[in-house]
Amino acid sequence: MAPTRSHDAGSGKRAPPGSIPLGRVAPQAAPALTEEDYTALRDIVFRATGISLGDARRQMLQARLVRRIRALGLSSFAEYLEHLRRHEGEETARFINAVTTNKTDFFREEHHFRFLAEEWLPEMRARAARTGERTLRIWSAACSSGQEPYSIALTLLEALRGETSDLDIRILASDIDTDVLAAAARGAYGKEQVAAVPPELLRRWFTRGEGPNAGLYCVREPARALVQFRQINLVAPRWPIRSPIDLVFCRNALIYFDQPEKEMTVCRFAAHLRAGGHLLLGHSESLRRGATPFRHVGNTIYQLAPAGQDEPSRGGRFTVHVGAAPAGGCGRRDHDPGTGR
Ligand SMILES: C[S@@+](CC[C@H](N)C(=O)[O-])C[C@H]1O[C@@H](n2cnc3c(N)ncnc32)[C@H](O)[C@@H]1O
Repeated sequence: MAPTRSHDAGSGKRAPPGSIPLGRVAPQAAPALTEEDYTALRDIVFRATGISLGDARRQMLQARLVRRIRALGLSSFAEYLEHLRRHEGEETARFINAVTTNKTDFFREEHHFRFLAEEWLPEMRARAARTGERTLRIWSAACSSGQEPYSIALTLLEALRGETSDLDIRILASDIDTDVLAAAARGAYGKEQVAAVPPELLRRWFTRGEGPNAGLYCVREPARALVQFRQINLVAPRWPIRSPIDLVFCRNALIYFDQPEKEMTVCRFAAHLRAGGHLLLGHSESLRRGATPFRHVGNTIYQLAPAGQDEPSRGGRFTVHVGAAPAGGCGRRDHDPGTGR
């Protein structure tokens, strides 16, 4: 089933198939979340995802885990913590899926798609004409249920009038959450979910689903073929990315990170981007001036210096290094899954 709104309003979380919405399970008293259990769970969340849950997120965490605790036949958060320790691999993935916030939409923060069609793509086409470099690599680094990478694909296809043959475009779409990735790969959305897609684009790039997708709008080829989904954890020590990237969308994910994790991640994007590559962030995720190699070039749009224009103080093309961050620079603080902060 395509993602639908569920009990956790605004989070993008969906009820797992066959589950009962939380509101209707109320007769059973919810297990209490003690300060100690909350601290232990917060630490696990931070180490596994980089997401920093402040004191205010306690209720949210409790609400999201109660269903899982009941499904496992457990009666307390302490028992759940023990279960997590004993079944680390499998349960950690479920735990992560439960705690991420996946809210997204087609063409969210529309100015980025205007930038893509009106500025970035013409620049890339000019580059192709000038240098013969036809490959365009875009990374949607926290893609949730796929609306963002498909919006990128539709924007490019529209701008190119469906004719992509003179360019080799690929969109890598990744997330840590395996549930949303499965929904994204399916590419089938309910009426409410496609409400932000302009009617003309809906007609051109979606088909009405059949069989298990009946009643849903399914993203059509060639838009689907442009997007490749894969699980990537932004705080994992290594990202499985080899080719240089031209443009990174990392929107509304870093907002859940602390400042050092946020800046470290942004610096790692820099190391995977070509000179002159762009980074697009969410509406409340601005970068501190001088803290990363990016310069601000538009509304939540950042760019690395183009080749030959590196600032002398940074010593040319940015390289990631391990160690303390130099003042106003971009050191790498490895996220240590063993020790957390
Ligand atoms: C609010 S959604 C944003 C979706 C989309 N980028 C947008 O702006 O509409 C945030 C996404 O970040 C993902 N996320 C959180 N921590 C992550 C991590 N450490 N690695 C990769 N993805 C992560 C979540 O699973 C979630 O799907």
